[in-house]
Amino acid sequence: MKIITIVGARPQFIKAAAVNRAIQTFSKRKDRIQEILVHTGQHYDYLMDKVFFEELKLPKPDYHLGVGSGSHAKQTGIMLERIEMVLKKEKPEMVIVYGDTNSTLAGALAAAKLNIPVAHVEAGLRSYNRNMPEEINRLLTDHLSAFLFCPTDQAVRNLLKEGIKEERTRIVKNVGDVMYDSILYYSKVAEEKSTILGELGLITPNSCTERFPSGAEAPLGRSQTVPYPTPNYYLATLHRAENTDNPKKLKSILRALNEIGKNTPIILPLHPRTKKMMKVYHLFSGFKNIKFIEPVSYLDMLKLEKNAKAILTDSGGIQKEAYWLKVPCFTLREETEWVETVKSGWNVLVGTRMKRIVKEVSHTEARRRYQKGGKIFGDGKASQKIVRILIRHSGSLEIAPRNPVLWTGIKDVSAESRKKQTRC
Ligand code: UD1
Ligand code: UDP
Repeated sequence: MKIITIVGARPQFIKAAAVNRAIQTFSKRKDRIQEILVHTGQHYDYLMDKVFFEELKLPKPDYHLGVGSGSHAKQTGIMLERIEMVLKKEKPEMVIVYGDTNSTLAGALAAAKLNIPVAHVEAGLRSYNRNMPEEINRLLTDHLSAFLFCPTDQAVRNLLKEGIKEERTRIVKNVGDVMYDSILYYSKVAEEKSTILGELGLITPNSCTERFPSGAEAPLGRSQTVPYPTPNYYLATLHRAENTDNPKKLKSILRALNEIGKNTPIILPLHPRTKKMMKVYHLFSGFKNIKFIEPVSYLDMLKLEKNAKAILTDSGGIQKEAYWLKVPCFTLREETEWVETVKSGWNVLVGTRMKRIVKEVSHTEARRRYQKGGKIFGDGKASQKIVRILIRHSGSLEIAPRNPVLWTGIKDVSAESRKKQTRC
């Protein structure tokens, strides 16, 4: 089976690495899968791109489309054109896309227009805020996809509301979250290998205490009983366009972080979009209590997250990671796609107003008592389930495109399966 995986942005490298590992495992057994990796080039700085390929051992892309930054239309348009060329040349049986970026939409649209079945990993997420470019990307990608791999039951329900359900031409399944697979795999590695806390001067020799209340489950990679050093800092990330591209909101969030940083260090690995907008709005001075650092690698990020007193973020992936690592999370938005993390008590939507953020964060200790959970995001085997389903449905009538394929030479799976059915 030949599949094309399309990635372009930081979180997609992490998600695709988990599925790539599963593909390799299946390929070592009997199911030979040829995965061709296409990188759109949406993210390109070393710390937003290559560092993840190196650390997560993701193979070098077979095609790098070098699209880079631009307006939504320009970036998506150039991607579409270049992805189409690759698809026509490679003639894959299916295309896998991840999440909700412009690379996701471009990959799904280019494939769907060529009648190649699209597999969407992280399908069914909704914030119900169409001002977010990601919401537009998710909606369209889901409606174009033949395989909808949902991370939660809620995501399956969201799709159902839009009339997307499992049927002859579509697979809709809650397989769990591939980022959960990834964190289970890498959290111990991060604990052992990452030296970021020492590098940032966040561990003091005397900071050795038990952090989790008795009765609470220990975080991933940790023992409940053995005390461990407890660095005392907050971790923040900020990159959503609706926050960074609005000077009032950006300033208000930075003022809140600066206020919190008066008493406890606050570390902010700065996304390039945020850096750019802080320059545009002349916001680099006046925040001396925030420790701005370059974006960090995945292992360093896991280590920083796991040891933080709490996380403040507008990232989708980091809200979940905070939940899995049992670190209180304050989401700098008014709504979230990851509603389960809020229902569980680990995540609080604090919006973007300075006073509210500071007030909510001051209640961190009290919030530690909240402890619900369960396996909302699956059992850590989402990637294997995805690959198994793709193999099982490879070339089947049900998932095949309804119209004949647009080039010669590629197997017309729908016609073949029709013949098979007639023979039966
Ligand atoms: C994109 C996704 C967002 C995702 C995020 C993950 C879209 C619409 N947005 O947002 O959903 O959460 O990635 O991090 O697809 N830049 C650099 N170097 C880079 C990459 C970007 O300097 O390697 C700067 C450029 O000035 C660029 C800006 O960041 O204009 C925004 O980059 P872009 O890829 O358009 O969107 P993100 O904000 O990264
Ligand atoms: N991440 C990272 N280094 C950073 C910031 C984030 O490795 O400096 C990881 C983070 O742990 C998570 C993913 O990137 O796995 C989330 O990506 P991001 O916040 O850029 O995008 P989103 O999830 O919001 O789409």
